[in-house]
Amino acid sequence: MNVKDAIIERRSIKHFDRNHEMTEDEKTELMNLAMLSPTSFNMQNWRFVLVDDKNLKEEIKKASFGQNQVADSSILIILCADLKAWEKEPKRYFRNAPEEVQNSIVQYMNGFYNGNERVQRDEAFRSCGIAAQTIMLAAKGMGYDSCAMAGYDSKKVAELINLPEDYIITMFVVVGKKVKEAQPKDILEYGDVVIKNKF
Ligand SMILES: Cc1cc2nc3c(=O)[nH]c(=O)nc-3n(C[C@H](O)[C@H](O)[C@H](O)COP(=O)(O)O)c2cc1C
Repeated sequence: MNVKDAIIERRSIKHFDRNHEMTEDEKTELMNLAMLSPTSFNMQNWRFVLVDDKNLKEEIKKASFGQNQVADSSILIILCADLKAWEKEPKRYFRNAPEEVQNSIVQYMNGFYNGNERVQRDEAFRSCGIAAQTIMLAAKGMGYDSCAMAGYDSKKVAELINLPEDYIITMFVVVGKKVKEAQPKDILEYGDVVIKNKF
């Protein structure tokens, strides 16, 4: 499937075949594609928690207002981000670059994030938002469907997955085999959304 078709055909699916299991190779392929997503300073600040354990999915479904797709999809991907990735051995993000390049990038990163909690949080959502779309389009290309989700109790889910300190949950993406099409959707007028040069 080409990129344009994947973009056009991706829809948020709410009904999945609960008996379909993705193979380990498919899950690995999907995550390897997700890991090619861009991040600021190549910080790769996302962490993808793959939940395929049926009992855990049921627990997380309860913490997600009972939304069926959490349990019925083949995998639930919990997109998390490390708010402090910028200060955790940052040279590893450029480990093959010359030492002086590494040093200057680390200095920039420090100036950008240090003491700025809001930008640290913005970066978590920027990175995960982009990765989520990569996952959804890659899933489509692999013959799967998906749904992005924000409808869950973050605190409860954090407890269920032992979320470490410094990390936040940014969103879910569920992936599986659809058994029911999405509802038709309404798109705003082009001119209401696209602005030329200035507002
Ligand atoms: C950040 C985000 C959070 C969402 N949360 C939920 C959710 O909790 N439950 C749900 O059924 N759909 C959720 N959706 C799906 C949206 O309802 C859907 O993307 C929107 O209606 C447009 O439809 P489409 O994705 O099929 O184009 C979410 C989508 C996004 C991008």
